Amino acid sequence: MQPHNYILTMIDTAKGIIHNFNAGPSILPKEVFEAASHAVLDFNNSGLSILEIGHRTPLFQDVMDEARALVKELMSLGEDHEVLFLHGGATTQFMQIPMNLLNENELASYTETGTWASKAIKEAKLFGRVEIAGSTKDTNYTSIPKRLSVSPVSTYLHITTNETIAGTQWKDIPYDCGVPLIADMSSDILSRTMDFKKFDLIYAGAQKNMGAAGVNLVVINKNILGKVTRAIPSILDYRTHIKEGSMLNTPPVFAVYVAMLTLRWLKSKGGVAAIEQLNNAKSELLYTTLDSLPIFKGVVAKEDRSAMNAVFVMEDEALEKEFQAVCKQEGMYGVKGHRSVGGFRISMYNALPIESVQAITDLMKDFAQKHG
Ligand SMILES: Cc1ncc(COP(=O)(O)O)c(C=O)c1O
Repeated sequence: MQPHNYILTMIDTAKGIIHNFNAGPSILPKEVFEAASHAVLDFNNSGLSILEIGHRTPLFQDVMDEARALVKELMSLGEDHEVLFLHGGATTQFMQIPMNLLNENELASYTETGTWASKAIKEAKLFGRVEIAGSTKDTNYTSIPKRLSVSPVSTYLHITTNETIAGTQWKDIPYDCGVPLIADMSSDILSRTMDFKKFDLIYAGAQKNMGAAGVNLVVINKNILGKVTRAIPSILDYRTHIKEGSMLNTPPVFAVYVAMLTLRWLKSKGGVAAIEQLNNAKSELLYTTLDSLPIFKGVVAKEDRSAMNAVFVMEDEALEKEFQAVCKQEGMYGVKGHRSVGGFRISMYNALPIESVQAITDLMKDFAQKHG
């Protein structure tokens, strides 16, 4: 019996090895589960649970400080960038960004690459004018725009670096778009090297590569703030969060703690560059297998395939059901595609071991052989 972590051992002993391809919330490192479980019972030998200590105690202040410092270190950020851990998930950022940055008569540029980008666009329109700088809507979001048209007067350009549902990922980041660059990195945060300093705002829900649901990372260049004329409620104003050291009100303490543990784990593995190599090896194995088996069909343009979420279908729907059943039987969790796309989605976040990708690709080969 070898489940991927001991928590599942307790609840699911009958199934043998478990592979977790969930799209989010998703797999986290075993070490994180262990340390987080321990902290619920006795946090740092204090005799108290992390769930029952004040957020302004030195015990928790250390957690917040370490989490913020680790983000700065792992992203090689300088003095201009502030790191915040906020409530409300990435979805709150869809509106908090334009509320803080975009005046009603001003223009913001958005790329339209899928479900998540479209949600961000919808919210931005509540605050100012929006231009679509590039869209792949016509091809059902199966690729990333190759050319952008960004108005020079635009307040910022927003991109979604990885579309979790469509399975696309920006490989060429438009650093030189001429206006402040903002990115939703919810599903590929800290999974690959980027010039993070060149972004004026980065946000990500923690529940894929960074920790548990309930907290949202926001990295912001403070120089872009303070330019809108509208009144902003304190809880939605980035400046008040920066002033209060990301402790304006009670933060989601446990989620921040799990994020800190996950960041510590990433550092111990060699940081972003090292995890990128592993992520590349995983996605290469998956896509090479996919392309070698005519029974399966990738839906995304090859050059835009996501290293985090591989999306594919089968010609024959009956076979799809059968493959789903085989996956379930073999302890492969979370392989079903999003309801808007169908087929399959294999999520390969930082904590997923390559052995899990090996296992699903072996299963795909076996299945293809039986049905080829
Ligand atoms: C790319 C992307 N953006 C935004 C979101 C929304 O995140 P949340 O549920 O934390 O609001 C998700 C959720 O999966 C996502 O994948």
